[in-house]
Amino acid sequence: MPDPTNLRGQYVHAINAIDITKDYGKGEVLHRVTYQVPAGRIAALLGPNGAGKTTLIEILEGHRGRTSGTLSVLGLDPGDRRDFAKLRRRISVVLQQTMLEPGLSVRDVLRRHASYYPNPLEVDEVLEQVDLIEKRTALVKSLSDGMRRRLDLALALTGRPELLFLDEPTTGLDPLSRRRIRALVAGLRDSGTTVVLTSHDLVEVQELADRVDVIRDGEFIASGSPDELVRDAQAYTVVEFAAPEGLDGRLPEGASLVNGRVRIHTDDQDAVVRRVQEWAARERTEITGLTIVPPSLDDAYIAMLKDGQT
Ligand SMILES: Nc1ncnc2c1ncn2[C@@H]1O[C@H](COP(=O)(O)OP(=O)(O)OP(=O)(O)O)[C@@H](O)[C@H]1O
Ligand SMILES: [Mg+2]
Repeated sequence: MPDPTNLRGQYVHAINAIDITKDYGKGEVLHRVTYQVPAGRIAALLGPNGAGKTTLIEILEGHRGRTSGTLSVLGLDPGDRRDFAKLRRRISVVLQQTMLEPGLSVRDVLRRHASYYPNPLEVDEVLEQVDLIEKRTALVKSLSDGMRRRLDLALALTGRPELLFLDEPTTGLDPLSRRRIRALVAGLRDSGTTVVLTSHDLVEVQELADRVDVIRDGEFIASGSPDELVRDAQAYTVVEFAAPEGLDGRLPEGASLVNGRVRIHTDDQDAVVRRVQEWAARERTEITGLTIVPPSLDDAYIAMLKDGQT
């Protein structure tokens, strides 16, 4: 069945995977998973080791066959040989480690790669984008790890992909480069590229992803925007303040003392702050150094995975 198209004739779902199962021969590792990514969005795929992320992504890329289910990627079926050949020009994959000829220069690697695509980006343009322009004549083998990651990304961008699979794009990068690469990925979305991101850096996921899908043991256990997942997981806000002198163990209800600070976990921060103020008035002490840290995607993710361990 063809995908529905929007008015501009583009696909509503860059990825439309329905009831996908995978059995490597020793039992199913994906159980009828349905995974849909709207075109032009950044989708993050999360899950613990062995959950089935790589298996699913490889099926979506067409590098691995599925046992059953229907699959449409940019309107084509990656499991079909002819469709796969067409998709290769429209999809890019950045793996955690890639093989490149170490003796070639950065520019030559990119030039050669560009020759595979009908309408590639200019080599210098893409090097500017990943902040590697000064290294254009350097040999691949002379690059640092972080520069190699940026070169991998440059290669992936060269063909102007409609769909980009990114595996841990900023691991090993220094903070400035990381910020730059994140801005670049966000910019790709603005230009209409769909991005599927796997990352264990949940701060990055929270910042970049429009939607997050969490897979465990071959099944999705949660899907939604980062904010929705945080809300649904009922992770706690942490209210803290500097422990006043001479407390003698007297703490507000439900509080604990951690590294010289009084800490309370809550899902109702206003009530807690009120209670803390009342407590301070009773104790005739001042509240100083008050911090209120809302739950993060990291907290939500951990709560989500704990919930399932019954
Ligand atoms: N080539 C293979 N042959 C047989 N079993 C495999 C193969 N690749 C993966 N598996 C199994 O499939 C399951 C899912 O593995 P997969 O690599 O998809 O997990 P993952 O979510 O990518 O994990 P990680 O976070 O460790 O990369 C695991 O039980 C794994 O042992
Ligand atoms: Mg994996």
